[in-house]
Amino acid sequence: MFYPESTSYLAGKSKKEDYTAEKILNTIFENSNEGLLVIGENGEVRQVNNALASALKTTPDKMIGRLLTDVCKHNGLRRLIKVVNSGVPEFGKLDSIDGRSFLADYIPIISNQLIQGALAKIIFLTPEREPGYGLGEGVRKKKQASRNGLTVFYTVDHIIGNSPQMIDLKETLLKVAPRNSTVLITGESGTGKELFAQAIHAASLRRSGPFVKINCAAIPDTLLESEFFGYEEGAFTGSKRGGQIGKLEKANGGTVFLDEIGDLSFSLQAKLLRFIQDKEIQKLGASETKMSDVRVVAATNVNLDQMVKYKKFREDLYYRLNVVNLSIPPLRERKEDIRALVDCFIEKYNRLFGIQVTGLTQEVETIFQRYSWPGNVRELENVIERAFNVIEGNVICKKHLPAQLANILGSEGSNRESEDFQQENGFSLTLSEGQTLAEIMDQAEKIIILQALMKSKGNKAKAAQLLGISRPGLYKKLVKYNLA
Ligand SMILES: Nc1ncnc2c1ncn2[C@@H]1O[C@H](COP(=O)(O)OP(=O)(O)OP(=O)(O)O)[C@@H](O)[C@H]1O
Ligand SMILES: [Mg+2]
Repeated sequence: MFYPESTSYLAGKSKKEDYTAEKILNTIFENSNEGLLVIGENGEVRQVNNALASALKTTPDKMIGRLLTDVCKHNGLRRLIKVVNSGVPEFGKLDSIDGRSFLADYIPIISNQLIQGALAKIIFLTPEREPGYGLGEGVRKKKQASRNGLTVFYTVDHIIGNSPQMIDLKETLLKVAPRNSTVLITGESGTGKELFAQAIHAASLRRSGPFVKINCAAIPDTLLESEFFGYEEGAFTGSKRGGQIGKLEKANGGTVFLDEIGDLSFSLQAKLLRFIQDKEIQKLGASETKMSDVRVVAATNVNLDQMVKYKKFREDLYYRLNVVNLSIPPLRERKEDIRALVDCFIEKYNRLFGIQVTGLTQEVETIFQRYSWPGNVRELENVIERAFNVIEGNVICKKHLPAQLANILGSEGSNRESEDFQQENGFSLTLSEGQTLAEIMDQAEKIIILQALMKSKGNKAKAAQLLGISRPGLYKKLVKYNLA
């Protein structure tokens, strides 16, 4: 039941209207997956629904009619008092209760130019932990998406990092996720672009719909168009019987993640632009068009700005994609995140390997802080995983690190300039006992590839050019050395 005085919000209405309005409000409150809380002008709880009360480990009965400050110890939710006093709303505040993230809007309730109270609206962010998860249409779509392998694994909770840049990015992510705007995620290789894309989907209202990824660099241009739009039976020689549904259609009701968008050919750029504008799909060989309700998230590690300048990327598409830009800084620019990432990866591999690694030696910590991480978070995770494969005790020491890191501190050399470069960037080669020439050559190749990636700021096309090899050739090597 609404607190008796809550009818004051409905001033000027007849008794019957009051009753109907109250019923409607009660139904909305009780059936909402969002946490809802209303306080009056003196800070007393007027109404709270089960979703929020149970997150606070209490019940609505124990809260209603009492002062919010007495029944809720959560500092974030107590902001509501501030909103009642100031009358200024606060939107998109990221917070958590018992490690469960939520996004909150605090809104004053104003009537006759007087502040009558305030409403807190809480969206819990991990879909599988949401109060309403598992019900109705959502679950049907989710099951279907899961069968097709189109669900996401990561949520914003999986994005580790408390550097100011990362806190900022996570806040922006949560603010833009519920809207339908196109998002462009930029950042060097291994900075977490795909992780962010999945987290956007998971925090959006489309989260029970499909998440469909298209890697624009991995598929030849000739096939990419049918990958995007699908084709009718007999559209070309070798086409499948019954034709094929395109990924933009598969993503209907969900999100399409266009990875490596900088590699899209000019002609496909034009077609994608048309799709973003009209949301219409025309299969190859088909005469009619179909609508597909899709949110576009794109990612790239190339500088699209430059590409636009050199007429390699359409300006109009760039602006369409770049409505919101999440630019993830390289790990070397937020070294304070390394500690938390290491802890997270150690925990992960402890679970996977069934061992109890407790941490790093001081020396390894220093190395991690000095190294420039050209492969970013992916490289850091690979280094930890590798250490788990060779560790005997329960602390990761220098000898468990690959050569390009182990030799970063204090090696002597004759070529000062090259030595400085190697030290600064963590590259060096040594002949270790028990290593074959082939292993040392592999090590050298990996180091050179890392150097090329660093010089090209993660741009794989440029790195391949620097190395004088083809892009697919570079991809193969990145996979071989666990850098892809
Ligand atoms: N902030 C982070 N917290 C936890 N894990 C992270 C973070 N950033 C990246 N990772 C992990 O690092 C790996 C690489 O991330 P991801 O694939 O998202 O990078 P990317 O930017 O898409 O790289 P590429 O440009 O090479 O495709 C993944 O295993 C991801 O889970
Ligand atoms: Mg990626």
